[in-house]
Amino acid sequence: ALVSLRQLLDHAAEYSYGLPAFNVNNMEQIHAIMQAAEAVDSPVIMQGSAGARKYAGEAFLRHMIAAAVEAYPHIPVVMHQDHGASPAVCIQAIRSGFSSVMMDGSLREDMKTPATYEYNVEVTRGVVQMAHAVGVSVEGELGCLGSLETGMAGEEDGHGAEGVLDHSSLLTDPEQAADFVKATGVDALAIAIGTSHGAYKFSRPPTGETLAIGRIKEIHARIPNTHLVMHGSSSVPQEWLKIINDNGGAIPETYGVPVEEIVEGIKHGVRKVNIDTDLRLASTGAVRRHLYDPANAKDFDPRKFLIASTKAMQDICRARFEAFGSAGQA
Ligand code: G3H
Ligand code: 13P
Ligand code: NA
Ligand code: ZN
Repeated sequence: ALVSLRQLLDHAAEYSYGLPAFNVNNMEQIHAIMQAAEAVDSPVIMQGSAGARKYAGEAFLRHMIAAAVEAYPHIPVVMHQDHGASPAVCIQAIRSGFSSVMMDGSLREDMKTPATYEYNVEVTRGVVQMAHAVGVSVEGELGCLGSLETGMAGEEDGHGAEGVLDHSSLLTDPEQAADFVKATGVDALAIAIGTSHGAYKFSRPPTGETLAIGRIKEIHARIPNTHLVMHGSSSVPQEWLKIINDNGGAIPETYGVPVEEIVEGIKHGVRKVNIDTDLRLASTGAVRRHLYDPANAKDFDPRKFLIASTKAMQDICRARFEAFGSAGQA
């Protein structure tokens, strides 16, 4: 059944677990997520970005998620709009039937220029008023996340926004978070705690202190009833990088957020964990490996390599449901 983000995250808080929120663009990703959720009995959050709507088309994206709800009636599913750039974008998603929207007022409508705090409060509060009137949840964002902050520049070429993240002044301030939640009434709050979007988060192997766990604890202590959201939470599996590079790819050395650190965050109020890059890497790795394999050289049925893609993504989804504790909670 389609449920609101609020309903699902209230349950997650009550039972102390977290939920991966997977970005979706195509049917194979949706199949992978639902098959994994079915296998481990987990609720599901699927989210569509502006890029997803551009790629699939709004009607296709919506109907594919609705198809998942119909095919798996016993699994709670949130249809969430990721990074809404303006109130107008959020209203369109609400009209389309999304059960949750993100109003990302941390950036101006161009999604490049950092916005003022006052702008963020104003647009987010407006969306909350409209969304709540029709039972739709709202995620806001406060603080400066890596690649989006630099307009996603560098995301594809290995030159991420890493240096920027070393400045603790860019992490979400707990007092301002409390003020923001009070002023806007958001159901969930995305916080800046050391992550960035895309594959190029860190150029060195993790040392166990990738996330600003201390800051998560401070924010959770200040606003214990607000569900915290972690963007840029892909773990960038080294095994998939190797498979891509062993089969004609050329992805430079790079590291993501270790799953154990996300699990630590979940102990301190993190309930929604956004993951896009990991499914992209697994899908690309599986397709490359399939097509590079001489044993498949005579194949030309796309279903063959798309099944390989689906299977690879399914394994990641299942591992995250299990690690974050949502398995068994559907
Ligand atoms: O927040 C960013 C997500 O990874 C979506 O990326 O805009 O390329 O669909 P996208
Ligand atoms: P990743 O790029 O780490 O997968 O993050 C995705 C995200 O935060 C979508 O909003
Ligand atoms: Na989001
Ligand atoms: Zn994000």
